[in-house]
Amino acid sequence: MHILVCGGAGYVGAHAALALSRAGHAVTVLDNLATGHRAAVRWGPLVQADLLQPDTLDAAFQRPVDAVMHFCARSLVGESVRAPYAYYENNVVGTLHLLQAMARRGVDRLVFSSTAAIFGNPLSALIDEDHRQAPINPYGASKLMVERILADAAQAYGLRSVCLRYFNAAGAAPDENIGESHQPETHLIPNVLRAALGTGPALKLFGDDYDTVDGTCVRDYVHVLDLADAHLRALELMQRQPGAHAFNLGNGQGFSVLQVLQAARAVTGRDIGYQQAGRRAGDPAVLVAASDKARNVLGWQPRHPGLEEIIDSAWRWHQAPAY
Ligand code: UFG
Repeated sequence: MHILVCGGAGYVGAHAALALSRAGHAVTVLDNLATGHRAAVRWGPLVQADLLQPDTLDAAFQRPVDAVMHFCARSLVGESVRAPYAYYENNVVGTLHLLQAMARRGVDRLVFSSTAAIFGNPLSALIDEDHRQAPINPYGASKLMVERILADAAQAYGLRSVCLRYFNAAGAAPDENIGESHQPETHLIPNVLRAALGTGPALKLFGDDYDTVDGTCVRDYVHVLDLADAHLRALELMQRQPGAHAFNLGNGQGFSVLQVLQAARAVTGRDIGYQQAGRRAGDPAVLVAASDKARNVLGWQPRHPGLEEIIDSAWRWHQAPAY
């Protein structure tokens, strides 16, 4: 198939493009390069276009497209609280333009990058697909709005879609020269590793008074290559079944910030220090996925579930990042 990968120059999108190419699909990347990296576009041509400028999208559909994977988004929780208009415009209006461009050309399959942030503060230790959806920031709300649009579009137009709600994407494919590179970097594992290398500031630990095993926040870190694999399986599901589908993707095991730091010390052999800082606004204490539905319906089985393996792949990337 020929897959249009919107946001394919970004972190998860580039790994999905790699997985698609390995599986024998043709890839075209659409990206405005606002946060993506030209050097991450390695598995098909780049169309530099912007979802907020619908006229620029034509070039991406010149070769017939069988399905779209949509990774374009602003995705910083704290920034979304300060700049909600930018988040709703980019994540909701931009997606509407993409959906309209697809509809005009009869493209009726979409895999959408969604997030654990649609759930807000969890009511249970493990979050499954039936959990209450109550986002606590504009980022999560913008993603939930798109999920709703996709459900309506399935009814009205027969659009087939799969929403994949990532928990904490982590790791890299250093042998393929792709990995995580954000400016500014806000995520825990890159910040720990950059502190270890001295290429970033000292690590700040955001809050040690949560009701968790050691007082620090607990997250479910999932390898970006396992997320990429779920996208291939989502394509297959849309072949078999119409409708709008959604899956929570994580390993089902939570690690605290201090446990991540300890694992990073073991992987790197370095005594990585940290500074205590207050709680970061918008951080739930615990976010861990129940991914039974993905296992049962998609046949998804993470191949790199170990935290040290995830950190090791990120460590190899951060020592010599290609971008
Ligand atoms: N943290 C630190 N120091 C840092 C960075 C992070 O202590 O320098 C802590 C955070 O406070 C949090 C944990 O490490 O407790 C993980 O933080 P990340 O920023 O790596 O990830 P988040 O859990 O905040 O965010 C992820 C995704 C978002 C998504 C969110 C859902 O990156 O896109 O989960 O809540 F919205």
